[in-house]
Amino acid sequence: MEGACIMKEKLEKIKTSVIEELKGATIKTELENIRVKYLGKKGELTQILRGMGQLSNEERPIVGKLANIAREDIESLITKALGILKNNENEMKLKSEVIDISMPGKKQTVGKRHPLDLTLEKVNEIFLSMGFAIEEGPEVETDYYNFEALNIPKNHPARGEQDTFYINDSVVLRTQTSGIQIRTMENQKPPIKMIAPGKVYRSDAADATHSPIFYQIEGLVVDKGITFADLKGTLEAFTKKMFGGDMEMKFRPHHFPFTEPSAEMDATCFVCKGEGCKVCSGSGWIELLGCGMVHPQVLRNCGIDPEVYSGFAFGFGLDRITMLKYGIDDIRALYESDMKFLKQF
Ligand code: DAH
Repeated sequence: MEGACIMKEKLEKIKTSVIEELKGATIKTELENIRVKYLGKKGELTQILRGMGQLSNEERPIVGKLANIAREDIESLITKALGILKNNENEMKLKSEVIDISMPGKKQTVGKRHPLDLTLEKVNEIFLSMGFAIEEGPEVETDYYNFEALNIPKNHPARGEQDTFYINDSVVLRTQTSGIQIRTMENQKPPIKMIAPGKVYRSDAADATHSPIFYQIEGLVVDKGITFADLKGTLEAFTKKMFGGDMEMKFRPHHFPFTEPSAEMDATCFVCKGEGCKVCSGSGWIELLGCGMVHPQVLRNCGIDPEVYSGFAFGFGLDRITMLKYGIDDIRALYESDMKFLKQF
């Protein structure tokens, strides 16, 4: 029975060292390594079982039984250690996921409508209520629609006033929304009653009153028997709805190549109500827009007979109106996306 005793001792030793090694294991792979080291194909316990051949017939079943018990013990030790490890991991995970409800919340910043957008919405609303349609045109425009068809041939002095970005000889970034008048008259038969808001471009250096990009709103009415009185009535109705019922308007003669006669319209300064202040440079009036009766040649360019139809047109800067309305004194503020500025609206 001597062999059996030695074997028993060896098995006890293996168990003790398994227990010791398990104490030092802190991750799953370390536990797996211990399993392989003792129970694997070349493991220490397996080696012992291989050596059983040298035992006597009486000893073999006894040692076999002991070895099986040892194997089961080691298995359950490792399984237990795995269980503990998993518990610890879960605990750590829970701890890391704890929400501290005393912490201040994350602030959600809510976007704001841009002042230009607010003004445009009001302008659109007013004209829609007066039966106008809203038209659009391309920002990259041909020389023909931006100039030629509007009675501004090459070398016309009016071209010099509009610092144009040329894409090539015949394509420009539109300098005015007036080209949309032409596009609309080409595509629609009178009666026409439309406004066309849009971005325009001029190669101006940016300063407090100039921006290379700004917004214009074009207006056009064409029908039989349209007169300057219709123009005045429409613009007066618009201005009163936009700025208040106590506004007065006056028309000064002006020149635009695509209207005849042409005028500029001033309105009572809505800051000082006509008294004279900084905003209106003491005059009591604010220049609001350009307008006029559509030039017969422009109607003809679009296939509309000026003997049968007449029309009026107008154009104004959305930026200017927005600045006046909100007391903004630098146009650049409208394009710089400065949240501190934009949050005020
Ligand atoms: N397009 C002109 C400009 O950019 C503004 C303008 C004036 C438009 C008179 C019109 C108009 O339709 O009739 O200065």
